[in-house]
Amino acid sequence: MKILGISGSPRNESTSGVYRTVKTVLEATGMQYELVSLRGKTISGCIACLGCANDNVCKVKDDMQALREKIVGADAYVVGGANYYSSLNSITSAFFERWFQFRHREENTLWGKLAVAVGIGGTAGSAPADVIERYFLYNFVETVAKVAGRGAASCYTCGYGETCKVGAPYFLYGEGVRITPETTPDVMKDQGLMTAAMEAGRLLGNRLRDKHDRNAVTARMQARLMEAFKGAV
Ligand SMILES: Cc1cc2nc3c(=O)[nH]c(=O)nc-3n(C[C@H](O)[C@H](O)[C@H](O)COP(=O)(O)O)c2cc1C
Repeated sequence: MKILGISGSPRNESTSGVYRTVKTVLEATGMQYELVSLRGKTISGCIACLGCANDNVCKVKDDMQALREKIVGADAYVVGGANYYSSLNSITSAFFERWFQFRHREENTLWGKLAVAVGIGGTAGSAPADVIERYFLYNFVETVAKVAGRGAASCYTCGYGETCKVGAPYFLYGEGVRITPETTPDVMKDQGLMTAAMEAGRLLGNRLRDKHDRNAVTARMQARLMEAFKGAV
């Protein structure tokens, strides 16, 4: 059993809240894992060419090609993305759009696998975590837990954070905000977030070890997706 971790933040691993939270989840699973950062990678969105319709292999030539093998080979996923404009940041979205290649008659590639969705934002991370969960559902992958928290937006280090009226520090603390270690969020010091990340990892590990029945998960996810579409027509 192997878990693929994906950090969708374009920021440096040492400062990225997404990367460090995803890593915390992975370590708590107690299973073998590989953590890949999308930072610096070139991944375009799906171009709707339908080149993957016959063989479930995307024909766009970029860094997603090497990732395809890892996605197929993994038994579960821990994917984290950043909150950009109250949604999922673009490279993480592009990564998931390209999962369209698995959505043509393919039963054994992703269906019934398990996942944890991680979202980190300068104010809140639930928006990207929700989007990640929906991408998983489209591929009949069950999100066993969502982990959402606050990271340090770039406003804390850009040099203007104490006076900027559209920055995260001002949004959070208002007029007269001072940027100090106490007012600067750090995912690793956020005990609630770290506890949630470790619980999510343990749950994922236990679910994988506990006679994971992919067919049963697939059936449940298919029913859930159909239910979600009912309200859309
Ligand atoms: C272009 C851009 C847009 C952002 N928009 C939001 C936002 O709408 N809401 C929010 O809570 N944080 C927002 N942020 C802050 C990031 O979510 C925050 O820095 C978070 O820590 C990113 O994860 P990372 O630390 O792994 O890079 C934005 C950051 C950038 C660069």
